[in-house]
Amino acid sequence: MKPKATKAPAVDLSVEIAGLRFATPIWTASGTAGVGEEVAEWCDTARLGAMVTKSVSLEPRSGHPYPRTCETAGGMLNAIGLQNKGVEDFIRDELPRLRAMATRVVVNIVGHTQEDYVGMARRLARERGIDMLELNLSCPNVARGIDNGSDPAWVEECVGKVRAATRAPLVVKLTPNTNDIASLARAAERGGADAISAINTLVGMSVNYHTFKPRLSNVTGGLSGPAIKPVALACVHKIVRAVKIPVIGIGGIASGTDAAEFLIVGARAVQVGTANFRMPDAPIRVADELAAYLAAKGIGRATDLIGRLSL
Ligand SMILES: Cc1cc2nc3c(=O)[nH]c(=O)nc-3n(C[C@H](O)[C@H](O)[C@H](O)COP(=O)(O)O)c2cc1C
Repeated sequence: MKPKATKAPAVDLSVEIAGLRFATPIWTASGTAGVGEEVAEWCDTARLGAMVTKSVSLEPRSGHPYPRTCETAGGMLNAIGLQNKGVEDFIRDELPRLRAMATRVVVNIVGHTQEDYVGMARRLARERGIDMLELNLSCPNVARGIDNGSDPAWVEECVGKVRAATRAPLVVKLTPNTNDIASLARAAERGGADAISAINTLVGMSVNYHTFKPRLSNVTGGLSGPAIKPVALACVHKIVRAVKIPVIGIGGIASGTDAAEFLIVGARAVQVGTANFRMPDAPIRVADELAAYLAAKGIGRATDLIGRLSL
């Protein structure tokens, strides 16, 4: 089914990051919108800021056994385990579809080692139609996913090596499972990141009180959704004050005013994640609601809201 072309709002929602213009500051979040086919059924992708793919790795990964998701108050837990078919399959089967969409394409990459990230960046540099890479340095559901991503020295070294391997703009996605997210952001900036995205999910757990078993096969998983929005806002606030590069806010965004809060705190764009599972057109709705909010406030451009936090 092809979506109807919808009318762009009167307010100017466009933003610039790493020299690229995005139609709106509302992007999809990795792992929550597949590789776009599902979203394209429901959304006029020309009105989406960018489509961020689920994480792609060098080798195919089968992920964790089921059950891999469960509902929680105010959100969900997932331990998918970065299931994906690997970079060669992605380039052959998925990239052509993404490239045909009228939106920017951000490919989220993941590796076990720094060399894996470099290998991914080199491989993808040979392909057309990729606007940015997002380095997932923050997955809580894979062995050492957080350990590496919460070590500033490792983050700086990894980003530095990827920076040397590609000319693509780099967004570095950080974990909130650390006691000092600002120093991780500074490390990514020193390594040559063009932007920071935050946050990935928080480590959480759910127990079935009938069977006494954990609800996820992996025992713990990543918490996402409205429950994490205050944590995400606080992280974005800290990062914005720590670095000069743009920050992209992620965490529990499901409405235009949620997005507005992140922009006020200083994010230049936001990503919509868990909300996509409930409303597949969530990114467009969020963009429309943000435009309506700005119009009601008499603010003509989204960029005029960024960093307006009054302390
Ligand atoms: C089912 C699911 C799968 C996810 N997979 C990925 C992934 O592959 N790579 C990644 O960087 N983040 C992944 N995330 C994290 C999201 O991109 C996002 O950072 C997080 O869910 C917080 O945003 P939200 O509260 O809007 O969902 C996943 C989240 C969910 C819920």
